Amino acid sequence: MSPVLRPVEPGDGDVLHAIFTEPGVRQYLFDDVLLSRDETQAHVDAACAHGAWVICLDGTVVGLVSLRPTGTVDRELIIAVSERCWGGGMAYEAADVALRRGFEMLRLPRVLAGVDLPNQRSHRLMARLGFVPTGESDGPKYRAKNYELVRPADLSD
Ligand SMILES: CC(C)(COP(=O)(O)OP(=O)(O)OC[C@H]1O[C@@H](n2cnc3c(N)ncnc32)[C@H](O)[C@@H]1OP(=O)(O)O)[C@@H](O)C(=O)NCCC(=O)NCCS
Repeated sequence: MSPVLRPVEPGDGDVLHAIFTEPGVRQYLFDDVLLSRDETQAHVDAACAHGAWVICLDGTVVGLVSLRPTGTVDRELIIAVSERCWGGGMAYEAADVALRRGFEMLRLPRVLAGVDLPNQRSHRLMARLGFVPTGESDGPKYRAKNYELVRPADLSD
């Protein structure tokens, strides 16, 4: 079954809090910090403001995918999927849909991503999506590998 993306809403806070506090999800996404319910809501409200999407499978929210503004013209891919849905290609499909929306609707020239060095699952996802490493940078807990994905030629102006 393919995932469906819909715009995240403030009322998604409870289900996203359950996902964000799963050990495997918070390990790198939040440097293993267990968010309070209010902290999750702050993330959800910010995601609503910039037009992120929840990932739905058979009508159930199983994750969040976002092209988060970076403060420059660039946006960065952020994706989090419940551990129970890992390992079947669902995150890839959801990220691919989000990226196409970024390239086709937002006309982004490129999308960035930053992945903590030990987050192997996420590095494999970036490779499958076609992201290219551009360097490394320090993060709050881990060094991160930086990536970019340039808008595909068939979608250029
Ligand atoms: C990063 C994250 C989204 C990746 O999820 P994922 O399930 O590993 O990614 P995919 O949906 O692409 O699944 C790919 C895996 O499914 C396997 N797979 C099984 N059946 C498949 C199928 N039919 N199609 C594609 N892949 C399939 C692939 O072999 C691959 O496994 P591998 O990585 O061990 O080789 C997930 O680990 C996550 O939410 N992590 C926590 C949040 C986080 O750290 N986010 C990164 C910050 S941006």
